[in-house]
Amino acid sequence: MALNIILLGPPGAGKGTQASRLVEDAGMVQLSTGDMLRAAVKAGTPVGLQAKAVMEAGELVSDEIVNALIDETLDRLSPDQGVIFDGYPRTAGQAASLDGLLGRHGRKLDHVIELDVDEDALVDRISGRFSCARCSTPYHDRYNQPEVAGVCDLCGSTEFKRRPDDNAETVRTRLAEYRAKTAPILPIYEARGLVRHVDGMAPIEKVGAAIDALLER
Ligand code: AP5
Ligand code: MG
Repeated sequence: MALNIILLGPPGAGKGTQASRLVEDAGMVQLSTGDMLRAAVKAGTPVGLQAKAVMEAGELVSDEIVNALIDETLDRLSPDQGVIFDGYPRTAGQAASLDGLLGRHGRKLDHVIELDVDEDALVDRISGRFSCARCSTPYHDRYNQPEVAGVCDLCGSTEFKRRPDDNAETVRTRLAEYRAKTAPILPIYEARGLVRHVDGMAPIEKVGAAIDALLER
């Protein structure tokens, strides 16, 4: 049975890093609402036009928009593809919508993995971050460079980019949004016995090994 997991944690916690590793190693599908929204902004779609300024300010895009993005993507997946929700859900409304969407697609939530991190480390992580311009695999100037300098490990692209919302001021707003709107959904999943804590301050490989151990259990 395909696994459905949520990776939860503040900006820079390592959600995208661990999700892309699970795509590579476990053949799961990464559903990152952040990546979907950035693609929409780049393509200049109506959703992108609505989301651009909100994202640049570090605030949350409306539930209606992100719920629709997830719904459309789940429609295109086959039931035997495991899914990692990266950066979704982020509000109580999104969590409720996800329950409905999973039920409609014959899926059930297996784990909510909370990456526990020290907030002081996040600005450093985010300010050193860059990612592949083609497949969005995240890297870091010091903590996670491509194996061959200048070449993406996953897709071989030689183009990289930095995010417009990765600056100290916006990061503060993103953290405040996380504390006010996203952290409160944790108790919903705790009450259902789904939350697993992983030390997100460990080196990337150790975080990955801890997640693998949880998923194999
Ligand atoms: P989104 O793209 O989801 O950004 P985020 O939640 O702010 O999280 P990040 O992507 O910044 O961090 P991450 O946890 O993925 O960290 P990463 O692995 O890259 O959302 C962006 C915006 O879109 C939001 O602000 C909002 O406007 C909108 N949005 C998206 N989803 C939405 C939703 N559901 N509802 C409403 N609005 C939504 O790692 C960071 C860096 O650290 C990397 O350089 C990495 O190499 C490095 N690193 C990772 N792990 C480690 C480690 N263990 N040790 C050392 N370095 C590490
Ligand atoms: Mg991310």
